[in-house]
Amino acid sequence: MASLNSSPAWKALKTHAGKTATAHLRQLFAADPKRFKRLSLAVGSLFLDYSKNRITPETLRLLTRLAREADVASWRRRLFKGEAVNVSEGRAALHVALRARPGDRVGDRDAFARGLRERRRVKRFADDVAAGRRAGAGGRPFRATVVLGIGGSHLGPAMAVAALAPYRRPDFDVRFVSSVDSAALSRGLDGLEPATTLVVVASKTFTTEETMANARAVRAWLAKALGERQALKQMAAVSADTAAVDRFGIACDDTFQIWDWVGGRFSLTSAMGLPLALAIGGKRFDEFLDGARAIDRHFLAAPLERNMPAILALVGVWNSDFLGLPGLAVVPYDDRLRHFPAYLQQLEMESNGKSVDRLGQPLESGGAPIVFGGPGTGAQHAFFQALHQGRQPIATDFIAVAEDGPTAGFHPGGDHRQRLNANMLAQAEALMAGRPMAEAKKALRAAGIKGAGWKWLAPHWTFAGNRPSNVILLGRLDPFALGQLVALYEHKVFVEAVIWGINPFDQWGVELGKELAAGILPALKSKAPKGRQATHDASTAGLIRRLKAKKWGRRPSKRLGKQR
Ligand code: F6P
Repeated sequence: MASLNSSPAWKALKTHAGKTATAHLRQLFAADPKRFKRLSLAVGSLFLDYSKNRITPETLRLLTRLAREADVASWRRRLFKGEAVNVSEGRAALHVALRARPGDRVGDRDAFARGLRERRRVKRFADDVAAGRRAGAGGRPFRATVVLGIGGSHLGPAMAVAALAPYRRPDFDVRFVSSVDSAALSRGLDGLEPATTLVVVASKTFTTEETMANARAVRAWLAKALGERQALKQMAAVSADTAAVDRFGIACDDTFQIWDWVGGRFSLTSAMGLPLALAIGGKRFDEFLDGARAIDRHFLAAPLERNMPAILALVGVWNSDFLGLPGLAVVPYDDRLRHFPAYLQQLEMESNGKSVDRLGQPLESGGAPIVFGGPGTGAQHAFFQALHQGRQPIATDFIAVAEDGPTAGFHPGGDHRQRLNANMLAQAEALMAGRPMAEAKKALRAAGIKGAGWKWLAPHWTFAGNRPSNVILLGRLDPFALGQLVALYEHKVFVEAVIWGINPFDQWGVELGKELAAGILPALKSKAPKGRQATHDASTAGLIRRLKAKKWGRRPSKRLGKQR
């Protein structure tokens, strides 16, 4: 097979990028009154406007040709059939089986049956907790759950619980602790009563250092108040290693299984979604899974030209590889989606942040952009200055919601939603159209700024524009729509990986740091002033000494002139 860069479609796209480099989005819109209609797509309650990307019909034609050359359709088939698409670990990646319905085309019937069984157990457990049939010490109903997990065992569930807050049981608190950090743990447990707290240990491997250290600490917290036996009765687990859960002491009835064919960051629709089911109940958890399934069906059946995840992926490849944009800002205009950028950061960067292809050959191109973001409008007052006028343009995904839907707690009424969406539309428009120098000068004059200063100010008031963005609209942020959004990005990441030749389901890059931390810990804990640190570089060794020395320098004297 030809390497990516020497494939005919890649070369054609390079030439095309050279030819179209000077076209400004303003001109593209002016030249085609149907551009918005042509370059937008609705699937269920999701709407994607990708017209503000620096693409033409020819760009899309070449990008879909690239997808065909990369065999996206056959990789998609292999994914759904349950073939070992995770080649470095010899595993399938069958998250789609977990939200399938009987009769759906999912290759591995056994995976589907197991997934369905666990899905039913998760829903029953969540509903039993809600109804008080599964209760805490002395039969008191659980009032809170503390979820201990990290990475894919944290970011998806935490994002989803926040996103669906209005659908949550009002009398039940869901908290997450991910880092091995006593401050995080203390905040996570703050004000909770052990007798009415359910602890969920979420770890696919059940070996992750952070999660296991926290699980032991929280077990001790429960045991101190309730005794060891009751402590374990108030713990549940989600894991692929049920034997390890058993050794920890959690009962098998309270253990929910995932399998090695569920990738960590693709696990939100597995039993890893237990915190979400606890928060919103079994019926709504089903609606969430149905939303993901609707996009699975679309992804499987729609031609690439009208396939929402594929289009997002193709535009992503175009932006990073042909326009050279190194980053993707993700900006949801809805506070409930405030954790979505962090969730997506792991999904994109842990999946595709690689320098070798699936066969271990160095990548000539491709790989995940730097993904970051934050909710609008706050983000406008944080990093948008650089998005508009920084020297390094990047792409932006705006995510917005049309209607408020049900609300929990205080709602101001009035026009908050319209204000929010007006800001979102204005930012996307400003990034696209910019403000040329002539218009900046006009604006300066209109602001009454004249005299010697105005010419000098004009460049500051000028925006280059031509900065691409997608706008993803949700009718309402309900369980179904969130499921759609999650599956949309899961498949986007998969299609990008196929085009780049990457295996998106492994993550060897996080291992080295874990190994080194295990080696450093004894040095930090040892009583010897230098610890055992023979193998460290001078900087690491120096910092270990400094951390152990407990001498933090003197505070400057309060009296001026008496600095020592
Ligand atoms: O960050 C590495 C990683 O392996 C992720 O892929 C995973 O989501 C996370 O650690 C947590 O792993 P586990 O669920 O096994 O505790």
